[in-house]
Amino acid sequence: MKTHHRWTLPLLCLLLCVYADYELGIDRPYGDLPNQPIQLDKNAEPEDCQTLCEQNSDCKTWSFSSPKTSDCQDDALCWLKGELKPVSVNRCMYSGRVLKRLDFMPFPASSFRPTGWLMEQMKKQATGLAGHLADFWNDIANSTWIGGNSDTTFNGYGERVPYWINGLVPTAYLTGDQHTIDQVERYVKFILDHQTSDGFFGNDGDPWPRWKIVVDGETEISTRFPLLMALTQYSEFNPSHSQRVIDAIWKYFDAQRAQLFTKPLDSWAKYRYQDLLLSIFYIYDHHPRDRQEFLLNFAELVYQQRFDWEGFFGGNDFPKTSCTPEQIGLATHGVNVGQGLKSSALWYRYSQSPADISSTTQRYDVLDRYHGMASGIFSCSEHLAGLSPSQGAETCTVVETMFSYVHMYSQTRDVRYADRIEQLAYNALPASMTPDTWAHVYLQQANEISSEPVNPFVYLSDGADANVYGLAPWFGCCTANFVQGWPKFVTHALLQTEDDGVAVNVLTPLRFKSQLANGAVSIIITTNYPFEEIITFDITSEAGFPFYLRIPAWANNATLYSQGKSRNPPAGKLYKMKIPAGKVTLTLQLPMEFRTVERLNGAVAIYRGPFLYSLDIGENMEQKTHYYQNSYDYVTKATKPWAYALSLDPTHPENSLKFTYAGNIGENPFDHAGTPLRVAVRGKKIEWGIEKNAAADPPKSPVESSSAMEDLTLLPFGSSRLRMTELPVLKN
Ligand SMILES: *[C@@H]1O[C@H](CO)[C@@H](O)[C@H](O)[C@H]1NC(C)=O
Ligand SMILES: *[C@@H]1O[C@H](CO)[C@@H](O)[C@H](O)[C@H]1NC(C)=O
Repeated sequence: MKTHHRWTLPLLCLLLCVYADYELGIDRPYGDLPNQPIQLDKNAEPEDCQTLCEQNSDCKTWSFSSPKTSDCQDDALCWLKGELKPVSVNRCMYSGRVLKRLDFMPFPASSFRPTGWLMEQMKKQATGLAGHLADFWNDIANSTWIGGNSDTTFNGYGERVPYWINGLVPTAYLTGDQHTIDQVERYVKFILDHQTSDGFFGNDGDPWPRWKIVVDGETEISTRFPLLMALTQYSEFNPSHSQRVIDAIWKYFDAQRAQLFTKPLDSWAKYRYQDLLLSIFYIYDHHPRDRQEFLLNFAELVYQQRFDWEGFFGGNDFPKTSCTPEQIGLATHGVNVGQGLKSSALWYRYSQSPADISSTTQRYDVLDRYHGMASGIFSCSEHLAGLSPSQGAETCTVVETMFSYVHMYSQTRDVRYADRIEQLAYNALPASMTPDTWAHVYLQQANEISSEPVNPFVYLSDGADANVYGLAPWFGCCTANFVQGWPKFVTHALLQTEDDGVAVNVLTPLRFKSQLANGAVSIIITTNYPFEEIITFDITSEAGFPFYLRIPAWANNATLYSQGKSRNPPAGKLYKMKIPAGKVTLTLQLPMEFRTVERLNGAVAIYRGPFLYSLDIGENMEQKTHYYQNSYDYVTKATKPWAYALSLDPTHPENSLKFTYAGNIGENPFDHAGTPLRVAVRGKKIEWGIEKNAAADPPKSPVESSSAMEDLTLLPFGSSRLRMTELPVLKN
């Protein structure tokens, strides 16, 4: 069977923005649009039918037959189809599918370079825990992935190196840190050098499976999915090695697809299928090697074997409170949910089905409603855990969810997903780490009164030390996986639009350089945002381009200055501008105001701009076990009382809150002592108990108290290791 492929030039994409190919001998019966077939000229080619499909927004696939290509009939006939039905074999027919481009697509990771405070943050990561795990942590240093002998059953089924390298590759090249680059090169080279002759990634040949990576008696393949992402990023940062890396991925794809016929996706891989899909679509977009049909069939097979996330989020199995013991499983597992969130956004490229858009929105809504936390993540400890502010949220889930929201934003252009990425990056992500980035928590809590091993504990299925800052509290997955948080935030900060422009995903300091179809473009974003409210874009472009500036939903008074004029772009929308060729400077001012959100039992969470604020309860961090350089496990205790209610009118919080800024962002803005942002508020001590070694749920607001009124301080959530975030309000 011969597979044809038609070249789709970038310029052509301006008009069509679909990539396509087709195959002889395949029909797609049923699903015809009205008035089919269309009779074409006898000399028509399959391309002509495909073009008609591309031009018709309802067309998802097509079939074509002509006297030139078969003896089946005398006319050239083209059927346009509005549905994707299973294929059938038919020697008379050509058929093809189209993989639609999403409105927003990532630029090559190498287009970005963080600057300012963001670069400092990334360097801390490179010179802190992330860049040194291979030097002292057995699960990375002695992993079977690098030819070591660490027992994979104790290192998370072989997940550690793939998780780590997925974040370490961009960390290394975005910072240029040589030690980190050396680690990346050593691991990537070893993994490529030891790809087996049959195409699988692993270190010691035969027989399949190469590691005893077995869960419930089934081979666990999901660890390869983050590895694939690591390899595609590596090829973007190292064009001279790209050929070899992409060869290796292709070899693996051939092997993996063949294997799926006899060993379908199972266990974790079934729930994480969308992370494989992501790499299949990536190869389709960038390195199809004339085999689009193979890739689409591979994607279809993976999809057929998937866990049905749309059914789960939209159905009766979705837990509306903290999971019962019967609900604890792979579907309610926080990291799986965080990764799974993007599945319908990705699949929309294939299905073009409105159901995949509505599922994307529906997921976001139900997670927020039943499990949402003030910091923007959802509770999972380690399964969906309801609305209690003492419940935990896993660090792996924070970074996976940030990444999923990029794809949900790309599918929908809905600014709230991008707002949420910033909310997570500026609050939940730094809250999961110590300011030196040498220690992290497994679980973070919105109301966290101490961080130490405790028994009993409030977590659903995680253990006593889950909220401890350390090397590998409770389980080592997040030790490896936290690394992807900041660098993927950077490499997806700007996205390429379908009309060959640039859309802002997140606002953050960086330099960006890329090639659009009409010419080169460079954007320098200079800012201390989110700590300050002015953001400057210095834009240079050869040909001009459409620019979509995201105005956060909270930014009611945004002002945009350019060429002596000022405008007020509306909040919560993308503001489209035509950037002319040459140099342009845009200055965006995002005044930050206080707002409150009502939480459990009428408690409030207080926000100002992208930051969430929490009551400062002090933090005394005591070093316990020492591992290497600055790697310790800590016990962290509050130095101030925590049981307060605030004197605050939630509808006019500005009347009772006083914001101060230190005047500069300082050495480390996420440090407790060093944070430049403070909010003064007043409140009283109240009766508030402890349950299972955590703050009980907040007493119902409004509360009464006969204690004296006190001056209190709120700090950014992400600058606090301990914190009280959801606080009751006092009765007037
Ligand atoms: C790696 O394994 C070797 C041999 O078992 C051991 O001596 C070494 O301490 C291990 N390295 C780390 C970082 O755990
Ligand atoms: C924002 O705009 C509103 C309405 O235009 C106004 O009432 C408010 O004072 C402004 N806030 C700031 C911080 O400028």
